[in-house]
Amino acid sequence: MIRTNNLSKTYGDFDALRGISLHVQEGDIYGFIGPNGAGKTTTIKILTTLLEPTTGDAFVDGKSVWDQKDAIRGLIGYMPDAFGVYPDMTVNEYLHFFAAAYGIARSERQGLVDGLLELTDLSFKEDALVDSLSKGMQQRLGLARALVHDPKVLILDEPAAGLDPRARVELREILRELQNMGKTILLSSHILSELQDICNRVGIIERGVVVAEGSVEEILDRLSHAGRITLRTDDDERALQILGGHEAVGSSGVDEESGVLWVTFRDPEDDLALLGRVLGAEGVGLRFLDRDRVSLEEAFMKLTQGLVQ
Ligand SMILES: Nc1ncnc2c1ncn2[C@@H]1O[C@H](COP(=O)(O)OP(=O)(O)O)[C@@H](O)[C@H]1O
Ligand SMILES: [Mg+2]
Repeated sequence: MIRTNNLSKTYGDFDALRGISLHVQEGDIYGFIGPNGAGKTTTIKILTTLLEPTTGDAFVDGKSVWDQKDAIRGLIGYMPDAFGVYPDMTVNEYLHFFAAAYGIARSERQGLVDGLLELTDLSFKEDALVDSLSKGMQQRLGLARALVHDPKVLILDEPAAGLDPRARVELREILRELQNMGKTILLSSHILSELQDICNRVGIIERGVVVAEGSVEEILDRLSHAGRITLRTDDDERALQILGGHEAVGSSGVDEESGVLWVTFRDPEDDLALLGRVLGAEGVGLRFLDRDRVSLEEAFMKLTQGLVQ
């Protein structure tokens, strides 16, 4: 439903996006995760056609952000990361205003607004001034506004930021309901743990590069392997013995699926050199060596530490 192909964006001489390729399937609740400054909002602005890419392409339901902007705008409901100051309007008036702006017939507006208020649990606040709402309620109103034209795709930039745990649970319930209605949802966050209960798939972006994409289970699994070195030697059994007893080794074992030997070192800085020395000293020869990306682990550490925005 959403696809980016080698998308890049340069601001002046700063590369904010360095060739990212994402894939959001129809019906996904997709978590777009990365620390502050990673390029999430830039990507989202390109997808919502507010910003043109420098190179590469992005598609929403097969429509290109380069030359089918109007079609894409009709398909997408967008909630930006920061709202402007709310006008002096009631909740009801506010949604009527946007319904009119989207060209919904006058006779249909009240029914539409009532439905949106019900969906976002705001019916009891319809006559309240928008300014008087709590942060969580304003966020839900923003969501209602993004749904006025019944878009297929919802793109929400940091919708859970600044919400208390209860408001977050409420947001999650609404997103589930929208998923059940057949919407595809992309939402961003700088905290993986904040999204892992809501999303079925995630993409992790760091410094303008997508370092991982997959189901939540796959990503957590890969994270637990990050920093592993896999290797083959001319005597794996002996190598495992040597590594298992070495003080510099964090953990070692044999991968159940592939049968390949793996090892992690306590200090990842000089692991490869050390590995060669340790095995070489015992006369075991290396035949093959591969390393998982450590940057994924770094990304995860930052994310799970709940980096402040
Ligand atoms: N209009 C702009 N001009 C120059 N640099 C920008 C602009 N917008 C964003 N950036 C830079 O691009 C990088 C990515 O920003 P952004 O997409 O907002 O990241 P995120 O939403 O993940 O926090 C950041 O380093 C940011 O400072
Ligand atoms: Mg942002």
